[in-house]
Amino acid sequence: MSSVPDLALNNGQTIPQLGFGVFQIKPEETAEAVRRALEVGYRHIDTAEAYRNEKGVGDGIRASGLDRSEVYVTSKLHNGSHRPDDARAAFDGTLQALGFDYVDLFLIHWPLPTLYDGDFVSTWQTMEEFYRDGRARSIGVSNFQTPHLGRLAAETEVVPAVNQIEVHPYLTNEEVRGYGQQHGIVTEAWSPIAQGGVLDDPTITAIADRLGKSAAQVTLRWHVQRGDVIFPKSTTPARIKENFEIFDFELDDTDIAMISALDKGEDGRTGAHPDTFAFIPS
Ligand SMILES: NC(=O)c1ccc[n+]([C@@H]2O[C@H](COP(=O)([O-])OP(=O)(O)OC[C@H]3O[C@@H](n4cnc5c(N)ncnc54)[C@H](OP(=O)(O)O)[C@@H]3O)[C@@H](O)[C@H]2O)c1
Repeated sequence: MSSVPDLALNNGQTIPQLGFGVFQIKPEETAEAVRRALEVGYRHIDTAEAYRNEKGVGDGIRASGLDRSEVYVTSKLHNGSHRPDDARAAFDGTLQALGFDYVDLFLIHWPLPTLYDGDFVSTWQTMEEFYRDGRARSIGVSNFQTPHLGRLAAETEVVPAVNQIEVHPYLTNEEVRGYGQQHGIVTEAWSPIAQGGVLDDPTITAIADRLGKSAAQVTLRWHVQRGDVIFPKSTTPARIKENFEIFDFELDDTDIAMISALDKGEDGRTGAHPDTFAFIPS
């Protein structure tokens, strides 16, 4: 089995292109899921304060016997903590919950342009503090649309290392991905299999049947060949393994084009729209 590629970030760091997402994994089940993923070979975990399972992520990494430096850990700022002092306290809380003295990547989870008087700029400037003091090796954003990214470019100093956005065959999100490509911002594709929603698609299943792979593997491989970072979530041991086994085959250009052509634009979006999303979880 070929190993997971590392992608270069704009600050000299690298990120494993395939990771393991823990959204909607119960706090009490997270450590075991993470330990299992690390056993399979994953070396990149994507969590968030809002998932309430940062402690489980830290516990799972410690239970694996791996050194902290061998695992790439991402977490995200809570929507309720965008004001600078709140963001500083939240970041301290994230490190405490994980039980680590740094994260590899820390993201603003949502831009929330209708909250905080539309000010995500001071939030980003606070993220820059965490980057400069070394406790966040890289900083980035999530769910930022191109106007939000443009505003950071005009008003702040550090270019986000990544933008984590919804991307899958039914929402290929080319405009935001294209902005990232032009400005050195790596795209991370969340819900890469649309939480299972693309797995019955006849175009994808036909390619999967031809190659002797599963629909999930073909879809994940499509992301990899497009150059995005992915971290599918599963608590099913066989699927955790299946989702890791995507480096021993290739899609040809026709396969890639046929899957990309499944794009439904906004009709394919499964999550909230970043321009209007304003939810602060309790
Ligand atoms: N930044 C954001 O706003 C944001 C939003 C959403 C997600 N994310 C991140 O992206 C990660 C992945 O997204 P996601 O969890 O929403 O969705 P996903 O990875 O696209 O799909 C997960 C779902 O698909 C099922 N599944 C996984 N592998 C499968 C396979 N090989 N065959 C069939 N079904 C399979 C899982 O079921 P089982 O678990 O039952 O196996 C689960 O129900 C999250 O965990 C999180 O880290 C970020």
